[in-house]
Amino acid sequence: MDFSFTEEQLMLQDVARRIAQEKIAPSAEHHDRTGEFPLDNIRLLGENGLMGIEVPAEYGGAGMDPIAYVLAMVEVAAGDAAHSTIMSVNNSLFCNGILTHGSEAQKQKYVRAIAEGEAIGAFALTEPQSGSDATAMRCRAVRQADGTYVINGKKSWITSGPVARYIVLFAMTDPEQGARGITAFMIDTDKAGFHRGKTEPKLGIRASATCEIEFQDYVAAAEDVVGKEGEGFKIAMGVLDAGRIGIASQAIGIARAAYEATIEYVKDRKAFGAAIGTFQMTQAKIADMKCKLDAALLLTLRAAWVKGQGKRFSNEAAIAKLTASEAAMWITHQAVQIHGGMGYSKEMPLERYFRDAKITEIYEGTSEIQRLVIARNETGLR
Ligand code: CAA
Ligand code: FAD
Repeated sequence: MDFSFTEEQLMLQDVARRIAQEKIAPSAEHHDRTGEFPLDNIRLLGENGLMGIEVPAEYGGAGMDPIAYVLAMVEVAAGDAAHSTIMSVNNSLFCNGILTHGSEAQKQKYVRAIAEGEAIGAFALTEPQSGSDATAMRCRAVRQADGTYVINGKKSWITSGPVARYIVLFAMTDPEQGARGITAFMIDTDKAGFHRGKTEPKLGIRASATCEIEFQDYVAAAEDVVGKEGEGFKIAMGVLDAGRIGIASQAIGIARAAYEATIEYVKDRKAFGAAIGTFQMTQAKIADMKCKLDAALLLTLRAAWVKGQGKRFSNEAAIAKLTASEAAMWITHQAVQIHGGMGYSKEMPLERYFRDAKITEIYEGTSEIQRLVIARNETGLR
């Protein structure tokens, strides 16, 4: 077993760290307060290969492996979680699915635009009445005699929905087939029949724009189908396996930022004539924070490694996402506590880390859904 990283992986990590620390972290408070979409920073990440990390160079990406993706995501998330949400959707949910299942023309057209940072992508599975139970979707795509599809229905909570040029959409083409009646489509948001709702006001990751989208007689061409008709649910699940590695990395980045701030604080802050870091109760918290952080990182790197081997990694990704998101919630909670009143103040980033961490337990499959996936894999029971 080799725990060292390659030179290329370390170089990409370094690029991500530099952008995160020089450009992203300094404006994180502004983006959180205003909810302004960080378009310039997203373009900068794209120009540096960070929007298509695993995308081969021939489609405009950095041509790196899943380990490099984890390292870069952690750095960007440590700078600001909202930026890493946008990065994660572009990399894992948009590019990854088209690269794995899309046609050559789809790869050239859609993956290149996103990987080079020229456009922003989105992934639309959730609906107002169906989130965890994704096969209960109602959005309908009806095939016409000429081979085109007419799409009607709503999708909710779509990350980057307000700004996305292209969206991977999942719609029901054959409701009687359930999961096997779902099809994936490429959507061009400039076309007629596509509408956006209001941007959702959120607890955290406030600069990551999220909205409802609606299709009213949107016409998709036969060549807009990703993969084959009826394969959409399996495509969505496979894409989400990769996405969960991204969200685990995001959780680690948020947790690491909170942990590092805490290490500095406990050395400086004095109470009862001593640094608070000398109290055993604080030391126990620090030790537990570090153990959870390292465990989350190692499990996430394991999932990335299995993915890189070309093997099925659904279970490893669910284990990583569950462990990392719950670690992030616990670590940011302790970090606020250790900072006392200053942890609760908007003059320090601790309360933002705490708010941002919460989403990692909800999206791309809640913690309950990760437990369901893991237990099904472990027992073979349903
Ligand atoms: N890879 C490939 N195929 C898979 C799969 C995977 N990981 N998981 C399931 N499948 C296949 C199954 O083998 C089955 O195939 P057959 O029809 O051939 O038997 C089919 O898909 C249906 O599977 P299930 O019967 O297991 O489906 P289910 O209805 O019980 O649901 C679930 C399973 C795990 C709960 C799934 O619905 C799920 O993951 N829900 C959570 C949804 C989610 O994560 N949404 C995220 C939205 S995107 C997002 O959130 C982005 C963001 O925030 C930034
Ligand atoms: P529900 O499915 O209604 O769940 C409610 C509660 O019931 C949860 O605690 C859940 O864990 C629990 N529960 C449900 N089923 C079970 C079960 N079988 N066993 C035990 N407990 C269960 N979706 C997209 O498609 N694209 C996006 O880009 C996207 N971005 C998002 C961004 C944000 C900020 C948010 C908040 C959500 C986003 N989502 C996106 C949607 C997200 O994936 C869903 O919110 C999530 O999957 C949960 O679905 P739900 O909200 O409908 O909750």
